[in-house]
Amino acid sequence: MTAQTRTHQPLPIPTPTTGLVVAQGRPVPQDFILGAATAAYQIEGARHEDGRTDSIWDTFSHTPGAVVDGDTGDVACEHYHRYADDVALMASLGLQSYRFSTSWGRVCPDGGPVNAKGLDFYERLVDSLLGSGIAPWLTLYHWDLPQALEDRGGWTSRETVDRFVDYALAVHDRLGDRVRTWTTLNEPFCSAFLGYTAGMHAPGRTSPADGLAAAHHLMLGHGRVVQELRARDAALELGLTLNFTVADPLDPSDPRDVDAARRVDAQMNRVFLDPIFRGEYPADLLEDVRHLGLTDHVMDGDLDVISTPIDVLGVNYYNGEAIGHEAPPAALADSVNGGRFTRSPFPAADDAHRHPRGLPVTAMDWEIQPEGLTRLLVRLHEEYAGPAGVALHVTENGAAFDDAPDEDGFVDDRGRTAYVRAHLGAILDAVDAGVPVRGYFYWSLLDNFEWAWGYAKRFGIVRVDYDTQVRTPKASALDYARTISTRRLPAPWADLDADGGGDEPAGESTP
Ligand code: FCB
Repeated sequence: MTAQTRTHQPLPIPTPTTGLVVAQGRPVPQDFILGAATAAYQIEGARHEDGRTDSIWDTFSHTPGAVVDGDTGDVACEHYHRYADDVALMASLGLQSYRFSTSWGRVCPDGGPVNAKGLDFYERLVDSLLGSGIAPWLTLYHWDLPQALEDRGGWTSRETVDRFVDYALAVHDRLGDRVRTWTTLNEPFCSAFLGYTAGMHAPGRTSPADGLAAAHHLMLGHGRVVQELRARDAALELGLTLNFTVADPLDPSDPRDVDAARRVDAQMNRVFLDPIFRGEYPADLLEDVRHLGLTDHVMDGDLDVISTPIDVLGVNYYNGEAIGHEAPPAALADSVNGGRFTRSPFPAADDAHRHPRGLPVTAMDWEIQPEGLTRLLVRLHEEYAGPAGVALHVTENGAAFDDAPDEDGFVDDRGRTAYVRAHLGAILDAVDAGVPVRGYFYWSLLDNFEWAWGYAKRFGIVRVDYDTQVRTPKASALDYARTISTRRLPAPWADLDADGGGDEPAGESTP
């Protein structure tokens, strides 16, 4: 704990060199919330401290070949011990809200009785945020199921739903008087289908049927928790975060591509949206997965629980994709497999393939497609959230690049700066089109443990030196801070030297 941090000093928010950037920047509505997000396993470390027991990600990351370089979250960003400095850093950037998750195995070790010390940590964190004027946005489940529950069937077992409710109520008992926004799940698509079908994420199963069972039970857990929290306090803002794709057929005139894109949309987007907003699974999805036993898990009343009204829908968007029915000659890298067997996350879309479109990509090989976010928000509002009176927040969006720090650890990440500006602009386009988008959380505040990629991919606006734990805000953090303080959004590449940034994605042009 000898490392210094640079989080106590107010940051030198640069004034624009020309003055024109701010003057000409696009106004950001005063009530639009600008924040950043993290997740417990990715930053906390402190694996077995104060009673925490292992989650499926502890087990998975310690499995040889599962994570790049054998990285684990044992230490991560040491946020468990450095949370006060990290909150001071957020305050110096002017963040208005902080989206974080609580660790189930810290609060309820092994998924069992409550561990007061685990709750003490989150109480300290929340009080520190509130003391700094930063609104806490709490996610109950960001993928870290207690391993002991996985050993009893995990999300394929209905019993896990009851344990999730117990855990959620324990967190609410302690923090319900201070946290206003509660989201149940982060990205159940990844928990269910990357974890139980693709084998790319914990617990590493490769079963289409298990992925569907897990998806249903995750949503049931969501609905049960919303009901319980609503009954306790009608004033809470309740909801969940889903991750979406915008699946465009590669050739809209080819019915086979159109059908492949339909399957991806059904098995990533509508498999969650329709039960939550309409109380039913989409008919075409049920037809496609008829052989996989989904309906065996759906008991009377489940869909009523799952469709319990919510207040907020968190939208995570990184990119859309062009889907064709044949594999492309050169595929985009989907994820890593470290030599382990993995398969498509889609339970019944083996003939759907992503095709590169010549767009610039990030270090994840994810295409940079801000206009997809505008289209997504408009669609979600028109087809789902709008009729239900639900407001949208973009709860994750961000980019990994191969950052090149200078000798002081500073990263002049112009590509990431332009990425954030472009996506905020895409959101404002949706707002201008009448979509009530209330806020944006950049993913992520800190470089952190990027799941199967370990520490190899850096998404932070703040650099973390993993040897010293020193945090250094990158140029993108300073630019974001300026947007927050001026409420003006520069054009993506305005005032940035597109040739000099070092991380400008190939093919990127100044819009
Ligand atoms: C999302 C996850 C988040 C992070 C980003 C890059 O799918 O919710 O934890 O890994 O991707």
